[in-house]
Amino acid sequence: MVNKKIIVAVDGPAGAGKSTISKKIAEVLKLEYIDTGAMYRALTLKVINKGINPNDVKSILEIMEDTTIEFINNHVYLDGIKVDEEIRKNIVTNHVSEISKIAEVRKKMVDMQRKLSESNNVIMDGRDIGTVVLPHANYKFFITASVEERARRRYKELLEKGEKDITYDQILIEIKKRDEIDSTREIAPLKKSPDAHLIDTTNKTIDECVNEIIEIIERG
Ligand code: DC
Repeated sequence: MVNKKIIVAVDGPAGAGKSTISKKIAEVLKLEYIDTGAMYRALTLKVINKGINPNDVKSILEIMEDTTIEFINNHVYLDGIKVDEEIRKNIVTNHVSEISKIAEVRKKMVDMQRKLSESNNVIMDGRDIGTVVLPHANYKFFITASVEERARRRYKELLEKGEKDITYDQILIEIKKRDEIDSTREIAPLKKSPDAHLIDTTNKTIDECVNEIIEIIERG
């Protein structure tokens, strides 16, 4: 594996464990981890902070011209400011699907994501990585879990982060809504690439999933 360029594409719905699993694989296999959801989240944060209506496509594209999103040592920077925590807040989560369904936004993001994959061995996670962004990836995985399990995980994560005004039922509704928008949107909907390995994390530990994926990659 020493000389071969490694590109791993990971897709799946919200809360399936994609980013936790991808980060661990990146560590073990010494790959650069690129979280494309964080890129859509960073742009959404900027739209919210500027008070722009998520339906105002023209203004969103205008601010995008003047936006930098970078990954430095596994932290996300928006216009030079670290935004790891802010982009995970519920207000961003609840608006990100609206922003990420805009065709012109996706086009620019996909260009940025392809550039980020050029220089290093990478593992990139998102919704359209194996199907649109990196269809030539040498390994593709589709990571999923039942919607109830994903809602439980998201709820626990938000409680741990100190969000108080939330309930499990509300998170379940939000995840279902986001699944619906992400998988039925016209451009690059969430779907499993036919050549992706399906990994269902519902009844598995993170380490079991990580090991399963690493075995597939090492098998070549
Ligand atoms: O993976 P995440 O929950 O952080 O992603 C946030 C949102 O961004 C998700 O609702 C869908 C969108 N997204 C996308 O449309 N395409 C990607 N490649 C990654 C995320």
